[in-house]
Amino acid sequence: MSHSGALEAIDRILNRGGRDDEVLQAVVDVLHDRFENYSWVGIYLVEGEDLLLGPWKGPQATEHVRIPVGQGVCGAAAATGETEVVDDVNADERYLACFPSTRSEIVVPIAHEGRVVGEIDIDSDRAAAFGDGDRAFLERVALLISPACSGAASTRIPR
Ligand code: SME
Repeated sequence: MSHSGALEAIDRILNRGGRDDEVLQAVVDVLHDRFENYSWVGIYLVEGEDLLLGPWKGPQATEHVRIPVGQGVCGAAAATGETEVVDDVNADERYLACFPSTRSEIVVPIAHEGRVVGEIDIDSDRAAAFGDGDRAFLERVALLISPACSGAASTRIPR
């Protein structure tokens, strides 16, 4: 599936509207179902000093449902606001293992009004699965879904 086809599908989901968590789940499903190398796809939402797992799709659940900002590849991306691409997870000492089959990973922060509100985390069973095209595509997806993430994140924060 092409990146442009997936962007069109995501646009349609966003235009349809609905509850933020349902919108984000539908976007996760598109990413997981249309790209063979995207073995596990999840969205983490920032809650205080932690990342909390939101919608995800993949063959297995992860034990890492709460990751402190600054820990793991996910926490690094949230701390810096920069995309992390790890071609070989076994060679990255920050890596928090979720699935034995994972070989590479990309984490794309989602910013809203100047702060990181969440991130897209994708694991691949293929080494070095994420190229510049994937990175540009996923950074575009992060921009598109940032309003829904900010809504979904704020409903979880007790006030
Ligand atoms: N590998 C991530 C943890 C999340 S799992 O991949 C779903 C990390 O190092 O932060």
